[in-house]
Amino acid sequence: MNHPGNDSSTTFLDPKTASKYLSEYETPDGLSAEEIMNLRANGGLTYNDFLILPGHIDFPPSEVCLESRITRNIVLKTPFMSSPMDTVTETDMAINMALLGGVGVIHHNCSSDEQAEMVRKVKKFENGFIPDPLCLTPNHTVADVHKIKAKFGYSGIPITANGRLYSMLLGIVTARDIQFHEDHTTLLKDVMTTDLVVAHEGVTLEEANQILRSSKRGKLPIVNSRGELVSLLSRSDLLKNLNFPLASKSLHSNQLLCAAAVGTHPDDRVRLQKLVDAGLDIVVLDSSQGDSIYQIEMIKHIKKTYGDTLEIIAGNIVTREQAASLIEAGADALRVGMGSGSICITQEGRPQGTAVYKISEFAQKFGIPVIADGGIQNVGHITKALALGASAVMMGGLLAGTAESPGDYFYHDGQRLKKYRGMGSIDAMERNCNFRDSSESAAARRYFSERDAVKVAQGVAGAVVDKGSIRKFVPYLISGLQHALQDIGVKSLIQLKNEVGSGKIRFELRTAAAQVEGGVHGLYS
Ligand code: IMP
Repeated sequence: MNHPGNDSSTTFLDPKTASKYLSEYETPDGLSAEEIMNLRANGGLTYNDFLILPGHIDFPPSEVCLESRITRNIVLKTPFMSSPMDTVTETDMAINMALLGGVGVIHHNCSSDEQAEMVRKVKKFENGFIPDPLCLTPNHTVADVHKIKAKFGYSGIPITANGRLYSMLLGIVTARDIQFHEDHTTLLKDVMTTDLVVAHEGVTLEEANQILRSSKRGKLPIVNSRGELVSLLSRSDLLKNLNFPLASKSLHSNQLLCAAAVGTHPDDRVRLQKLVDAGLDIVVLDSSQGDSIYQIEMIKHIKKTYGDTLEIIAGNIVTREQAASLIEAGADALRVGMGSGSICITQEGRPQGTAVYKISEFAQKFGIPVIADGGIQNVGHITKALALGASAVMMGGLLAGTAESPGDYFYHDGQRLKKYRGMGSIDAMERNCNFRDSSESAAARRYFSERDAVKVAQGVAGAVVDKGSIRKFVPYLISGLQHALQDIGVKSLIQLKNEVGSGKIRFELRTAAAQVEGGVHGLYS
């Protein structure tokens, strides 16, 4: 066929045969995952070293299913996990990660009782109830309420005997009680409301809402049979009427799914028992180098003691040899990543793309999922980790600085920031040693052996900018990932894995110049 304007001697193929011609006579663009990962010269790839070529789109992003099996027996609706770090995952993060379809791993840089209490709060959480409301004692002052109002924006505060949850409820202080009170030194026992409307533990959200409506109060304290405060319901939350269709629930109950990290020392068995008593679903064995006799013995102990009621994520590892040891011992999932974390200052790791691919490719033969841990900076990295075979990504820095991460915001150079630190930083290792179960922090144990006379930091402490609430941020990640999968032309994570495995999805190396071209460039500001 000739096109107008072309030399009449040139003949063209029939445009209608383009696809057929391509598949019959041409080699496909790019490389398969196997080819790109086995290029001898590359010496290991990070997420930024390659890209995934786009495919054909014939469906909207909203149709993309992000369901993923993250351990042998647990499937999540979104493949997101938050790191067990004391500036990332405590109660609030774990609850909200589970509500949004992922799971939070509660850190263990605290006493075993504190960690078990956090697990208990996640398991007891019911949408609408505030599981750990801020409380004061009758001997606090009006000034203390004003401070809380200035910092957190609310002033409805339950007054308990010792100022904590699970202590006798004595009254409540609301904005109305202190509005016109000029003397800020007045004790709360002289202004608090003692004529209380309460509901009893076990009340359903619907019943509690009804009581709140008819009582016309702003807050409804929930108490147990001993009159101790166990949670709080707030009218303002009621109005938000939030619904979480993706929420991650336990296998055998309607409770939120909860994970927590422990070490591999003998006293970690006692800690784990407390976490299991609190309702734990998944235990993460938290070692910076997971292929050890200690971890293998811990896995065997857990399987013998708890059977299949507790899922074990073992790690961290970066080679197939390490994976083989842990799979053989009985791990239900593997946590992959050494040296890839944003706060990591050690060099013992392996480029994360290669580590995730090599281990996923091996572990999937045994039906063991892989969690890609560390180094996730954006939706592109999430997509690549999943394409290389990971079943979920674990994020620290990306979720730090959100409203749900532990710690207070502070300002520096006009920026609103929150602290984020490596668990191997000196800062984390020195935390709370005086009231822990052992003289050493969990962070110190993860990164050092007791025999180390001199501790060398393996992580740093710094700050990250305010990212708002994960209730907005995780949906943004979900939507970004759905768009990315649509671009690749796959409707689910399962299809993504299958087509990477068959070689249909293609990859390409990115030179340093290609990385610059792919980023924002050429702007004045
Ligand atoms: P990020 O998402 O890149 O910030 O990495 C988080 C991951 O880094 C965690 O899940 C841990 O596996 C790892 N990590 C946490 N603390 C340290 C540290 O102090 N040194 C090295 N790696 C760390």
